[in-house]
Amino acid sequence: MIEVEHLTKKYGEARGIDDVTFNVEKGEILGFLGPNGAGKTTTMRILTCFMSATSGTARVAGYDVFEDSLNVRRKIGYLPETVPLYTDMQVPTYLKFVAGLKDVPYREINGRVGDLMERVGLTHMAHKFIGELSKGYRQRVGLAQSLINDPEVLVLDEPTIGLDPKQIIEIRSLIKGLAGERTIILSSHILPEVSAICKRIIIIDEGRVKAQDTPENLTTQLRVSDKVRARIGGPKDDVVQALQGMEGVKNVEASAGAGDSLQYVVEFADGAANRSSQVARAIVDKRWDLHELTPVKMSLEDIFIKIVTEEGV
Ligand SMILES: Nc1ncnc2c1ncn2[C@@H]1O[C@H](COP(=O)(O)OP(=O)(O)OP(=O)(O)O)[C@@H](O)[C@H]1O
Ligand SMILES: [Mg+2]
Repeated sequence: MIEVEHLTKKYGEARGIDDVTFNVEKGEILGFLGPNGAGKTTTMRILTCFMSATSGTARVAGYDVFEDSLNVRRKIGYLPETVPLYTDMQVPTYLKFVAGLKDVPYREINGRVGDLMERVGLTHMAHKFIGELSKGYRQRVGLAQSLINDPEVLVLDEPTIGLDPKQIIEIRSLIKGLAGERTIILSSHILPEVSAICKRIIIIDEGRVKAQDTPENLTTQLRVSDKVRARIGGPKDDVVQALQGMEGVKNVEASAGAGDSLQYVVEFADGAANRSSQVARAIVDKRWDLHELTPVKMSLEDIFIKIVTEEGV
């Protein structure tokens, strides 16, 4: 439904995005995850025809975003990073205005506006002017306008930013409920957000795609972490020395205290093999007691940080 190939955008000399390629299947929810300045908004602006790319191609629902932008715009609902709102309009008036612009059949407009205001929790703000609304409520108006023409493809740039916790939960489940028939891309720099909503995640950093997979696969792929935790009965200094002497060990941390059985965290250099068994062998060779041995699992958050802070991943 969305096909992006070798998309590059330069702002003058500055890098926007660099050789970004990905696909989104019909009905899929894709999470675009990356830190500030990664290129999420840039990619979304190109997909929604708000900006042209320097090179590469992008197609939405079979239409090229450069050559067929009118058709692309008809298919897409877009929640931009900063929602352009008319501050002197009341909420329903604004939504009806957008509905008219997007060719919603006249007879359906009132019903849709009422329904959407209900779904995004805006009904009690119906009498307010948009200029009087708080940030979170403006965000809800933005979300409602992106849905007004019941689009096949939704592009949501940080949809839950500025919302209160209750509303975040409601909007997340609203977005999830929209998938199936619709294809959705949403961006976020918050990992739990994308893993809660999305089936697949693209991690983007410094304009480049660093990884793309399901949240589960990203975790398993990188589950072999760099650390092993062990509880060992033996003289502390000797234990530390033995662990440090193993191949590929970067660092050994012992828990405080001087008891018989202390906890040690052994950090290995990247790519070191057989980490747990190495530790086990070293301890057994010395005839110390090995009470516990666990690879330290990385959370998805750790993985995200690892991917965006490491070069060449
Ligand atoms: N209009 C512009 N002119 C020049 N450089 C720009 C412009 N817009 C974005 N950039 C640059 O392009 C890069 C990507 O920006 P982009 O807004 O796409 O990031 P983002 O992932 O959306 O970040 P954020 O999480 O902060 O919204 C950044 O280095 C940014 O400085
Ligand atoms: Mg952005």
